[in-house]
Amino acid sequence: MEKPYIFITRKLPENLIEEFREQFDIKMWESEDQPVPRKVLEDEAVKAQGLLTMLTDQVDEELINSAEDLRIVANMAVGYDNIDVEAAKKYNVTVTNTPEVLTDTTADLTFTLLLTAARRIVEAVDYVKGGEWGPWSPFLLAGSDVHHKKLGIIGMGRIGEAVAKRALGFDMDVVYYNRSRKEEVEKKLNIRYEEWSELIASSDYVICLVPLTDQTKHLFNNQAFKEMKDSAIFVNASRGPVVNEQHLLEALRAGEIRGAGLDVFEEEPISSAHPLLAMDNVVCLPHIGSASTETREAMIELSLKNLEGHLLGNGALTPVYS
Ligand code: DGY
Repeated sequence: MEKPYIFITRKLPENLIEEFREQFDIKMWESEDQPVPRKVLEDEAVKAQGLLTMLTDQVDEELINSAEDLRIVANMAVGYDNIDVEAAKKYNVTVTNTPEVLTDTTADLTFTLLLTAARRIVEAVDYVKGGEWGPWSPFLLAGSDVHHKKLGIIGMGRIGEAVAKRALGFDMDVVYYNRSRKEEVEKKLNIRYEEWSELIASSDYVICLVPLTDQTKHLFNNQAFKEMKDSAIFVNASRGPVVNEQHLLEALRAGEIRGAGLDVFEEEPISSAHPLLAMDNVVCLPHIGSASTETREAMIELSLKNLEGHLLGNGALTPVYS
């Protein structure tokens, strides 16, 4: 009997793949850092029973419809806004993501962004490297305190919880807003729920961790930024399009908020001419929330196990719908 065919849209370490080759015919796109061209993805999807995709691959209805034998798309990310899940349901294609394995790593990075923006770390590093360091002075590169300040987390999923734990270690006053209230999390962590407008208007730091959906697109717009404290620092570690970047830029220019830490952008990658990069009070990172070697390996392994489980009839471990 022919082995099921799996196409992986990036070149991944062979040592993680090899044990799966016994049961599956596996082919990978040739590049580690360049996304698979659309035409190649289309041609491979038609032949595949399983796809292991990245967040840079658009798995839309057209692709799913044309792939008659396709049974599962295993996305190597916790977010899956690059996949048309409704179309996948329609054509009976399972979709999986990689929750849990990246929670702490992404929370570490999110809190790093908050600290970096608050304490002006990038400016300070550039200052030393640029040979500008003169005599000590009382307010040289003075930033904002983090400890004992109020943190508002928008989106209380697993990563939100992990960020809250870190913030509590800094004695922050942690509140959250979520589509549905999470009373067990409130009790477990001793944090409070606040309505959106109350949280936005009173937090010293606002962290965005909501998934990108039709409802959350441009959730952070000029109105939201206007309502924030002018001393507030905004952090986005979810998906770029949740923020209207033009409105964020205007709010920063107008001094409506103090600064921002961003791991994600509306269009990625951004160019070096992006106006947010010209602002000293904005820290920009290249979507590295889950980028530790251990976690990326765990994400690959979970994606492969999802493919294996589903294609061998034992069920996927982390399907996004059932
Ligand atoms: C995810 O898993 O959705 C992250 O954005 C990838 O780092």
